[in-house]
Amino acid sequence: KHKIILDVDTGIDDALGIILAVKSGEMDLIGITTVNGNVSLGKATENTCKILDLLQVGEQIPLVPGASQPLLRTVFFEHRVHGEDGLGGALREATVVTQPTKGFAPDFIIENVLAQSGEVTLVMTGPLTNLALAVRKCPELVHHVKEVIFMGGVVREHGNVTPTAEYNMYVDPEAAKVVLHAGFPELTMVGLDVTRKVLLNEDHIRELGDTSIARYVKQSTSDYLERYFERNGVRACAMHDPLAVGVALNRNLVTTQKLYVDVETRSELCDGQTVCDFQNRWGKEPNVNVCLAVDAEAFFERFIRALKA
Ligand code: BDR
Ligand code: CA
Repeated sequence: KHKIILDVDTGIDDALGIILAVKSGEMDLIGITTVNGNVSLGKATENTCKILDLLQVGEQIPLVPGASQPLLRTVFFEHRVHGEDGLGGALREATVVTQPTKGFAPDFIIENVLAQSGEVTLVMTGPLTNLALAVRKCPELVHHVKEVIFMGGVVREHGNVTPTAEYNMYVDPEAAKVVLHAGFPELTMVGLDVTRKVLLNEDHIRELGDTSIARYVKQSTSDYLERYFERNGVRACAMHDPLAVGVALNRNLVTTQKLYVDVETRSELCDGQTVCDFQNRWGKEPNVNVCLAVDAEAFFERFIRALKA
């Protein structure tokens, strides 16, 4: 089984990523860590508790809160996309049973990665604050992680929060910079270039059947589908974060190229933009496996199979 720590800012698609990770049955989830992002740290943690309750695994998986704000900037929530609560209104009335574990996410990451050197993959689906803090405290961490897979950035298309920036990069670009330059031997970027091609639609949701998980997915994504329709003309939910989990399960879902990537932190117009040196004009050592193509059908085959299991 893949040993995974999943770092989330639980909004709608993070939740779907957690569900995929648990229901795949192929992951040894060492822990889930939470970070400020789509919603506050407190809400992200509470939403994660609700999802673990739904999956009935709250007692098995440590849940550790982390950073409540970006390294240098102020918080920037994404309620437009994820709703006021972060789960599109689903599970709003649920009584929360699962409770977070004591501790601080960056320390949890350091301890567990060092204890199982070379075996742990970090899957990051929120702003990269927790990992940046971990790397600053323990720079040798990079030699002990098996791989880091993060959802964030975009290299060939437009952004989703400003014309050039993807949300996770935009919220904490300084943290992203720390992570990009930390020296991780395997750092894989699952950006909007591929996640925008993986669109959950109403047919997929119908295929899930009528289980409690299927009903949750339907409810949680229903407003999102409408908003996506207004902007893009199709009723769909982009599977940003679930795809990052999918890549951890099966690398062959994506085609990657190792390239030099940096992130803008000092621009009035372009903060949070990921800049990819396709032609190696800067002559820098490539640092990121950039996902450039994706087999969306293969992803959904796996996603639906897992959620129905
Ligand atoms: C990313 O931003 C968040 O709103 C989503 O959860 C995802 O991690 C997509 O840009
Ligand atoms: Ca996210």
